[in-house]
Amino acid sequence: MKEKKLWGGRFAEAPSSLMIRIGESISFDRELYSQDITGSISHSRMLKKIGILTAEEQKKIEDTLLLIKKEIQSGKFEFKIENEDIHMSIESRLTEILGDLGKKLHTARSRNDQVSQDVRLYLKEEISNILVLLYSLLQTWVEKAEKNIDVIIPGYTHLQIAQPIRASHYFLSHFWANVRDFEDFVSAKNRADELVLGSGALAGVNYQTDRAFLQKDLQLGRISENSMDAVSQRDHILKFLFASSQYYIHASRFCEEVILFSSQEFSYFRLPDSLTTGSSIMPQKKNPDVAELIRGKAGRVVGGLNHVLMMMKGTPSSYNRDFQEDKIPLFDAVKQVKLGIEGIREMVNGLEVFPNNAIRSLRSGFSTATDLADWLVFQKKIPFRTSHEIVGELVKVCSAKGWDLFTIPSGERGKINPVLTDPGYEEAIVLETSCDKKNVPGGTSKLQQKEQLKSAKRKLKDLEKMIQNNLTKGKKNV
Ligand code: ARG
Repeated sequence: MKEKKLWGGRFAEAPSSLMIRIGESISFDRELYSQDITGSISHSRMLKKIGILTAEEQKKIEDTLLLIKKEIQSGKFEFKIENEDIHMSIESRLTEILGDLGKKLHTARSRNDQVSQDVRLYLKEEISNILVLLYSLLQTWVEKAEKNIDVIIPGYTHLQIAQPIRASHYFLSHFWANVRDFEDFVSAKNRADELVLGSGALAGVNYQTDRAFLQKDLQLGRISENSMDAVSQRDHILKFLFASSQYYIHASRFCEEVILFSSQEFSYFRLPDSLTTGSSIMPQKKNPDVAELIRGKAGRVVGGLNHVLMMMKGTPSSYNRDFQEDKIPLFDAVKQVKLGIEGIREMVNGLEVFPNNAIRSLRSGFSTATDLADWLVFQKKIPFRTSHEIVGELVKVCSAKGWDLFTIPSGERGKINPVLTDPGYEEAIVLETSCDKKNVPGGTSKLQQKEQLKSAKRKLKDLEKMIQNNLTKGKKNV
């Protein structure tokens, strides 16, 4: 005879093999074992407080739950597909050890509020881990920027050489993107920071559940206002998956730049050997696999966000079994985000920059053509549209003859327009001068780079405080 389910009272027949296989989540939601035990311990303490469990019973339950935790951690725990999910697996084991006492734990609780609470605890913990990792990446960007303040590289629009920029400006552009990711992860964490136990299946419970006690015991920021909404919504998961997707979109764009700029044609960057692989057929190859893999994983993580959005769409109110599937993309995103942050940090850390190759491109790409046009405006009082045309003509002649702005002889410039032979010409096209003229807050001049570095460091201090607050606030009951 098949074993009876914990919910099997009203059934004459056991579930079919298909029902078991399609319905199980134990193959993936075992990831929640520690949060499930944490939640159950607090729940048992609350049951004691409202007189459902005696002090002795509660202690036995708490001790046994901790024992089960050890069994799971040491690999001794036997996960059975018949137990469906992590909640029933742990409860079955509790009853196996404690007999009827184990059966008391599920008083005033439904798996609907239980699973939502577990995931919220899980998210709070994992986002804290992610924030620590992300912080170290932010530090790495600042270090890299600081080291490369005097290196000038091409800035692109449309992937065409546009204007010279300081490499520090480039690295800090990625820093600020990741600062936003950091703040969005914090926001997802706050969204998860809510007590939902006491919501029951959907309507609340027939007991005087002490929700304030549970909130305190589980160190949660607030208590949900509506039991139906509490078991119904997955906004905290969506917010987390959005922050993860945004991080990965940012990461994939940097990866693309690393791939491009470390190719032979650019050669501005070189990745350390340890982050690249060779080819089994082409002996010369050094492939930027880490960058490509992270770029590829962006699709996977964004797919996870889409998965949960589509899963939620049109579902009727409160709990639906569809929601069981939310954990697959959630757990995967947590792993991929951690890997992806570490990957970018290692790349930034080990990235070598080759200033001479960047200068070669800056020269051949006429990167200071705008500065020359502006010089004609300032020094020669020529209207900008006219100066734009004169410099455009100069670029055309250079391109046709294989010169750049630095190598075209003065005589040839004079044929285009006599103003181009003025002694100020040479100074107007200097790469460094071009950068330093962009002396507006947020610009690429050396002065502004120093200011930006200062402001980045101030930001790091603020974020560090956030992490510290998080660590002291988020303590659990076990
Ligand atoms: N394994 C389920 C989930 O992850 C737990 C909740 C099941 N609730 C129910 N009424 N069947 O969503």
